[in-house]
Amino acid sequence: MPIALIVLAAGQGSRMQSDLPKVLHRVAHAPLLAHALRAGGTLRPDRVVVVAGHGGDAVEAVTRALDPEAIVVRQTEQKGTAHAVAQARAALDGFSGDAVILYGDTPFIRPETLDAMLSARADGADVVVLGFEAADPGRYGRLVTDGDRLERIVEAKDATPEELRIRLCNSGVIVADKDLLFELIDQVGADNAAGEYYLTDIVALARAARRPARVVTCPEAETMGVNTRADLARAEATFQADMRREAMATGATLTAPETVFFAHDTVIGRDVTIEPNVVFGPDVTIESGATIRAFSHLEGCHVSDGCVVGPYARLRPGAELDRGVRIGNFVEVKSAQVHEGAKINHLTYIGDAEIGARANIGAGTITCNYDGVSKHRTIVGADAFIGSDTMLVAPVTIGAGAITGSGSVVTEDVPDDALALGRARQVTKPGYADRLRQALRTLKESC
Ligand code: UD1
Ligand code: CA
Repeated sequence: MPIALIVLAAGQGSRMQSDLPKVLHRVAHAPLLAHALRAGGTLRPDRVVVVAGHGGDAVEAVTRALDPEAIVVRQTEQKGTAHAVAQARAALDGFSGDAVILYGDTPFIRPETLDAMLSARADGADVVVLGFEAADPGRYGRLVTDGDRLERIVEAKDATPEELRIRLCNSGVIVADKDLLFELIDQVGADNAAGEYYLTDIVALARAARRPARVVTCPEAETMGVNTRADLARAEATFQADMRREAMATGATLTAPETVFFAHDTVIGRDVTIEPNVVFGPDVTIESGATIRAFSHLEGCHVSDGCVVGPYARLRPGAELDRGVRIGNFVEVKSAQVHEGAKINHLTYIGDAEIGARANIGAGTITCNYDGVSKHRTIVGADAFIGSDTMLVAPVTIGAGAITGSGSVVTEDVPDDALALGRARQVTKPGYADRLRQALRTLKESC
């Protein structure tokens, strides 16, 4: 059965107290909307429609970046969830199949749950609603059931005291045949406590039309929506806990899992060890057998088999480490390819560079890549030895097997196997230390 995904993302999210539309707030470095699209994307939908409203331009731009084929429609006034879905009608012209409605602020719906809803559809339910047993049903819509059947949904604002005692609540996720969905929505009115067009009313309307509705349930944590910054922090914690479990389940050792923070797209191989207090930004891949030592920060980088990174290392976007590379403490690497077995162990900045295989970069080395206007590249050949505290003033190339003397400022290319010294020659004056001290003392006493 072809599937269309409708993601509701027009609400303001006023309780976030933010200038940013709620669905663009991030969990694990991805907007909530990206999480919702990913959840729905597992169904391989034929069409994706995002209903934007508040902050619509920003939501549209982010949607385009996430899924260029998604259609963004606007709900200029937020008149309720049924009214929001109605805005997707034109975008779904010519589509026939099931419509799956998700909320942009509900990031954790699992593929298995959506599959269960589609199975319920296949088993003959015309409308399928995802419900959950709420610990505190609060403001959620209540599901009024009769055995297996779902009779109607009543919003908390409109519920009788007896209905408010129902613990089975509406998550908001709904699956229905697309044509039926819009037929039912046409009949929804706004005669209720909120004066809104409730999508939830389609259940009673379906029943009246003898089209049975059913509930599929999932754990409450899965339907968690984000309404406040505190919810956002909780969503982050939930997501991190899942990522840590997943990393360990697939063969990584996390010595203190609760202190490691992943991004939504972090890829961790087998037999990787991650020490305490490591933070991953987006777009990081760590291959098998690598070790990321304590207090390191990595983003936009690729770490190959057997590398050791940290403690206290920083890998920034474009850092590409080949097999067996060593990156030590207080080393920053950005936009640089570091070839197999190279060592950059202490207090160094490597940016816009290529470091040859087995090269040794001494403590305190800096690629001076920026002249205040443009960035320039540094190339270090295989087996080169860069002496401690070398300033590599880019653009500059150090040949294979070459050596630079400690403290050199290297501004000219160095051929293969050459020794480059770019520093003042040392002058040593025997006995002068004592003479200098005496002179300084005399000076101090005279003033
Ligand atoms: C809704 C459900 C309620 C359910 C709860 C689960 C209705 C009438 N109520 O209530 O049964 O228990 O979600 O969280 O459906 N939105 C729009 N345009 C609108 C209104 C809402 O795009 O005009 C979007 C919001 O951005 C949000 C979602 O729809 O992503 C839900 O809206 P919200 O106002 O949070 O609904 P609730 O009152 O929480
Ligand atoms: Ca809500």
